Amino acid sequence: MKYVKNLFKRVLVFTLCVTFVLGLTGCSLSDNGKRIVRISHGQSETHPQHLGLLKFKEYVEEHLGDKFEVQIFPNELLGSAQKAIELTQTGAIDFVVAGTANLETFANVYEIFSMPYLFTSEEAYHAVMSDTEYMEKVYESTDEAGFRVLTWYNAGTRNFYGTKPIHTPDDLSGLKIRVQQSPASVNMVNAFGGAATPMSFGEVYTAIQQGVIEGAENNELALTNNKHGEVAKYFSYNKHQMVPDMLVGNLKFLNSLSEEERQIFEDAAKLSTEVELECWDEQVQEAIRIAKEEMGVQFINVDVELFRDKVADVQGKMLESNPNIKDIYEHIQEVNEQFAKEDTE
Ligand code: GCU
Repeated sequence: MKYVKNLFKRVLVFTLCVTFVLGLTGCSLSDNGKRIVRISHGQSETHPQHLGLLKFKEYVEEHLGDKFEVQIFPNELLGSAQKAIELTQTGAIDFVVAGTANLETFANVYEIFSMPYLFTSEEAYHAVMSDTEYMEKVYESTDEAGFRVLTWYNAGTRNFYGTKPIHTPDDLSGLKIRVQQSPASVNMVNAFGGAATPMSFGEVYTAIQQGVIEGAENNELALTNNKHGEVAKYFSYNKHQMVPDMLVGNLKFLNSLSEEERQIFEDAAKLSTEVELECWDEQVQEAIRIAKEEMGVQFINVDVELFRDKVADVQGKMLESNPNIKDIYEHIQEVNEQFAKEDTE
């Protein structure tokens, strides 16, 4: 089954590449002459991001349906996040949802989100991400690379999970832990004492199953939507990151739209985020239930302070090596403080 899926993926990616290389722009038109807008993402069809993107499609087609047809490709069908970003960069496809770790090599300001324990509350995280005016500066940072972020999606809190129970940072010592393909993620897991093993999201299940790695780090939905709970039975709430995913669009395509059309796409993006955020908490609760009851995953509450202390010098080191994250770091500290104050009032 996996072989057939991989073969299908390859054929699909190959077809898209050929389409692009030959410059057959006509291939982007459907039978009825509409411009096909392709969106790639790596989640299943029940994931909050897919539901958000269905809203995006509905809104665009409701307003511009005579001109555009939106097609959504889930489950990394068009390739891993990194591959799909490249396809978006070249214009072979138009949009991709990607984690910020995957954007670091295009604009290193995105390293900020890989910083462990950056946000001190969920409220601060949501406030920063919802501040469109501030975030716009960050979103523009990949213009030179040929793409622009339109909106963000909640990707929850990341925690360690795997085949062995992790109670303290010492339990991570020497464990091969999958990380996203970004230098900052590698540094973070190594700082925790693990042996960071970068690979794409789609490879994680088999790597755990075959014992190539002992674990990974992610939100609860990875256990159910991506079935990692079948092979990883321990999930520890050490809460090292709160990270967004980004809806990234090809800049040429966005700039080719009229002002009205662009506004419709922007509004559709905003609406997709609203839907995604609305579904998130409920889906996380459901994922925890399914993981516990149907997959036998054990959730472990740990002393988060021990984990925070273990990587206490990482924030300083990152700030020293990357001046581009200084501004947003300070901005986030202010928002953190604001919510910490509200808490004590
Ligand atoms: C989450 C996140 C994805 C990311 C993935 C990963 O599912 O939403 O954007 O790619 O984790 O760890 O690779």
